[in-house]
Amino acid sequence: MPRIGTATTRTALKLLMLGSGELGKEVVIEAQRLGIEVIACDRYANAPAMQVAHRSYVFPMTDAARLREVVEAEKPDFIVPEIEAIATDTLRELELEGHRVIPTARATQLTMDREGIRRLAAEELGLKTSPYRFADSLESYRAAVEAVGMPCVVKPVMSSSGKGQSTVHTAADIDGAWTEAIEGSRGDSARVIVEGFVDFEYEITLLTARHVAGTSFCAPVGHRQVGGDYHESWQPQPMTPAALAEAQRMAEKVTEALGGTGLFGCEFFCKGDTVWFSEISPRPHDTGMVTMVSQELSQFALHVRAILGLPIPEIRQVAPGASAVILGEGHSEAPAFDGVADALTEPQVQVRLFGKPTIGGHRRLGVALATGVDLDHARRRAGEAAAKVSPVLE
Ligand SMILES: Nc1ncnc2c1ncn2[C@@H]1O[C@H](COP(=O)(O)OP(=O)(O)OP(=O)(O)O)[C@@H](O)[C@H]1O
Ligand SMILES: [Mg+2]
Repeated sequence: MPRIGTATTRTALKLLMLGSGELGKEVVIEAQRLGIEVIACDRYANAPAMQVAHRSYVFPMTDAARLREVVEAEKPDFIVPEIEAIATDTLRELELEGHRVIPTARATQLTMDREGIRRLAAEELGLKTSPYRFADSLESYRAAVEAVGMPCVVKPVMSSSGKGQSTVHTAADIDGAWTEAIEGSRGDSARVIVEGFVDFEYEITLLTARHVAGTSFCAPVGHRQVGGDYHESWQPQPMTPAALAEAQRMAEKVTEALGGTGLFGCEFFCKGDTVWFSEISPRPHDTGMVTMVSQELSQFALHVRAILGLPIPEIRQVAPGASAVILGEGHSEAPAFDGVADALTEPQVQVRLFGKPTIGGHRRLGVALATGVDLDHARRRAGEAAAKVSPVLE
């Protein structure tokens, strides 16, 4: 049974997952493999990570009282957030009372909205980012667009997967982008960020593990987003040595400022040797699902090792790899899939269907993964496999 650091307890370790989506599911599986007891929580029953956990609780992660109740009842060794929308003030209190929040309660607070992390990265740490302004009324928003200049990208400060995000190209787009951001905002926040549009060549996620022996980086993951939502990723994204060194320097700086142990997904925009910091997840990243085939230890395995204080002697890439998402659009209480056999005829292809119990609208339901002789080969295999799998919604 693993014990962390100098801890001498011989009782089994217990991990509480806050958020039970597809990324949490893989974290749970990796924790289970090391003999950890796992309790999964989410707002709905039978969420993906609950299907592989020992036990589960159903409540909204923003419900501070319920969150505290569950933590006090279960007394977990590790509280592991999977999503941004959590009662982070309660996490802060629990941490002060001696609970271990991954990576730290402060990291969950700073990354809960775009403002905390942007101000930390750009203003405190001096990292290069797009120019930006925040606004919380139509008037101050118009002034922000004026100050940043067009084209610019408008996003709710609280949102993910591109929700409420749009690009303002001309004056005619300005007011519509405000409405879209307000409507796409999580909760009832009416605050937006206006970011200068970065004309990047490519973008990456630098998966960064902070563990007992220091900081280790995975090879950069390149990705393609559609409307701010990830559709395809691959590893390793070719970079100039200067750009890679700069991304690693910035990732080390920002993860050090957030502190704790665990795996982080640090997002950068790149052009030649120039690198802009964009944002960071203090947990595994959706674009990092490619590492389930491209690395010996996936980002999920690395997260669990880092959390438990276990060694990460090496991060080995096994082959060029790629992922392509399987999306569903529509409504169903029992999504099923056609074409899986067809998708698996090609060698070095795997399919992960997340097991989401229902679909209402637009939802990521799975991912196809592939390795190949080179990046193009892996991307072609993953893309073709994903296209062959079709959700049957009825
Ligand atoms: N300032 C910008 N300039 C150019 N492109 C941008 C800019 N900001 C965002 N994008 C594009 O939109 C994508 C999503 O933006 P961002 O990561 O900030 O939003 P998100 O909703 O948090 O997305 P996710 O949750 O998928 O990471 C980026 O990966 C990038 O492709
Ligand atoms: Mg992002």
